Amino acid sequence: MLKGKIPGKETIFTTMSQLAREHQAINLGQGFPDYDPDQTLINLVNEAMNNGYNQYAPAMGYLPLRESIAQKSKSLYHCEIDPQQEVCITPGGTYAIYTALTTVLHPGDEVIVFEPAYDSYVPDILINGAKPVFIPLSYPDFSIDWDRVRNAISGKTKMIMINSPHNPTSSVLNSSDLKELSEIVNRHDLYVLSDEVYEPIIFDGMKHESVLKYPEIFKKSFVVFSFGKVYHCTGWKTGYCIAPKSLMKEFAAIHQFNAFCCFHLVQVALATFMKNEKTFSSLSNFYQKKRDLLSSQLTGAGFKALPSHGSFFQLFDYSSLSDEDDLSFAKNMTIHAGVGAIPVSPFYSQKSNVHALRFCFAKKDETLVAAGERLKNYFRN
Ligand SMILES: Cc1ncc(COP(=O)(O)O)c(C=O)c1O
Repeated sequence: MLKGKIPGKETIFTTMSQLAREHQAINLGQGFPDYDPDQTLINLVNEAMNNGYNQYAPAMGYLPLRESIAQKSKSLYHCEIDPQQEVCITPGGTYAIYTALTTVLHPGDEVIVFEPAYDSYVPDILINGAKPVFIPLSYPDFSIDWDRVRNAISGKTKMIMINSPHNPTSSVLNSSDLKELSEIVNRHDLYVLSDEVYEPIIFDGMKHESVLKYPEIFKKSFVVFSFGKVYHCTGWKTGYCIAPKSLMKEFAAIHQFNAFCCFHLVQVALATFMKNEKTFSSLSNFYQKKRDLLSSQLTGAGFKALPSHGSFFQLFDYSSLSDEDDLSFAKNMTIHAGVGAIPVSPFYSQKSNVHALRFCFAKKDETLVAAGERLKNYFRN
């Protein structure tokens, strides 16, 4: 008999991408680039394959890659981590999140989740027999109301999950948010899952506030990253988790009987590639230009841009174009205007009244312009 611990609903990404394919729509829905990774990185992967890195990697990952990650954590966040015992390379960020939650949660535990939330969080909590306690991000800036967090904490609360830069709202946490978080987790002795997969993609001169910068939070945290998101290679499904030694030991115990290890030659390539800091520091500027291009296209079609401070998404309010609910509007837009986007309501546990769609601007400039033209033709005529 199947366990049926989670609702077996198809994710909204599958639904909308399928619809976009059926109607030859330009897919600005699912979060992946339509351009290739840097040629240097591709060459390094080929080199690693030719150099014989074709068998199992060490369970925790190729050590020089873990060393490059430790070096990055030190230079960006002044956080000294032990590459041998505090980093694990994982098959993507999603896997790292699942493994971290499975490491910590027992049936009956409660986990604070901010909504809208990336769609793997709640199934990961439920599958472990724990209970999500939802707190909505405040509209329209999608910030956290920390008093609501204090009020939601019970004797069963085990963990708080944060995500910055945030998918789907593109909000980012600032240093005062991290101070509030620190006060709460220390007072109640809670774990933190910090999803930082869009780490370097942050705009308008803002700085990413990683949990790695805050030793008082990091001591009970799992911090999750994704190479796929950062280096335009989502299909390689390679990410990593950083956690203090005692937590990482438990995480590794689960990982070794699940994936055991991940794609070896990609790790070898990334170890060299990420040593060049520019590969990372150039991303803000690269994506900010794409954000601004998409925004000018969509505002020309009658959408209202909500602020996008990070990630490769932006929400656009469509109230002046239609009073449909967001799922119907997104489907009709895909079918009739030929542009796919993601409705926001599936990121909530309850019905939401946000009249906005999430658009992904990790696309070639010509794709963004072509989508803009289609939307202008459809909504302006
Ligand atoms: C907020 C967030 N966390 C985690 C992930 C998963 O990353 P990966 O593709 O490395 O599993 C995604 C992917 O869309 C995401 O948006």
